[in-house]
Amino acid sequence: MTVYQATASAPVNIAVIKYWGKRDTKLILPTNSSLSVTLDQDHLRSTTTSRADPSFDHDRLWLNGKEEEIKGDGRTATCIAELKRLRKEVEDADSNAPKLSTFPVHIASYNNFPTAAGLASSASGFAALVSSLAQLYELPASPSTLSLISRQGSGSACRSLYGGYVAWNVGTDPSGVDSNAVEVAPREHWPDMHALICVVSDDKKGTSSTSGMQRTVETSALLQHRIKHVVPQRMADISKAIQERDFDSFAQITMADSNQFHAVALDTAPPIFYLNDVSRSIIQVVVEYNRLSLANGGGYKAAYTYDAGPNAVIYAPEKNMKEIIQLILNYFPQKDAFKDTFALFKNDKAEGK
Ligand code: PMV
Repeated sequence: MTVYQATASAPVNIAVIKYWGKRDTKLILPTNSSLSVTLDQDHLRSTTTSRADPSFDHDRLWLNGKEEEIKGDGRTATCIAELKRLRKEVEDADSNAPKLSTFPVHIASYNNFPTAAGLASSASGFAALVSSLAQLYELPASPSTLSLISRQGSGSACRSLYGGYVAWNVGTDPSGVDSNAVEVAPREHWPDMHALICVVSDDKKGTSSTSGMQRTVETSALLQHRIKHVVPQRMADISKAIQERDFDSFAQITMADSNQFHAVALDTAPPIFYLNDVSRSIIQVVVEYNRLSLANGGGYKAAYTYDAGPNAVIYAPEKNMKEIIQLILNYFPQKDAFKDTFALFKNDKAEGK
């Protein structure tokens, strides 16, 4: 008996130009382009196995060993339906192809990073789910094409179809066909770039990105300014900085964009607060660390960025990392400043403290 099964994995990504706002909530089309960095190929990944079998009763999904309901009109169901539709095209073109599109699927997904890292796993999760089904169905689809499907699972998931530096194009077509992810540079292009994740809290965030974005789109004037007058130039500038491995520009744009994203959250009615006192103190430490370097004729040494939560991600050249960790531990010696202390994920290996 033939077993129809495939396994694929996908990395976590952290945006440096933030996606915040949907212009189409069903297709998940963003209000602006965004750009992320996937620093680690091995240690921050979701791995997903999919199996199609005519004896299965219906489609089912397990996340880290726990079964999750697949809602009929939900995003997981949308991704599965879209991939089955593409499989059907393969079957229509080749009468010998097994009719996998008619079989129910069982999908099991695991994250190899601790939940305590406080990272959203929906990006790597949906990217791995889409990749494993695409492999199972032997679809002749490029990562960019698959990004169009994983985008409908979770917007930021489309950027996890690639490693390295990845842009998600805002696009203009109402069907979403041009709102795909593209590689700006592979990870090997800038091997010196490392990331430190400071776990300030692993509590579930108060306002989900879905409801937060909707509220921001409906109420924030600053978001409209950001979409029209800020992000397009930043996308061009940070892409250039990445191409030229220009850390000074990369750091300035990354920190400015994180600040503006949190300003937009504050400009929402009612306001959304994702940063807490520890997050703000880490910003001050990084600002002061850079200020001292610049005052002594040096360049930027580190860049912070925060998603929809209080945990800091600090990007820096590898040579500065030891000093940064010492600084952070110096300023936040008490254990509970970082729940479970903090996790450090480097470019090529992971260390826990
Ligand atoms: O894809 P979502 O719905 O999890 O939204 C992600 C939003 C941010 O993480 C705040 C920014 C981004 O571009 O990843």
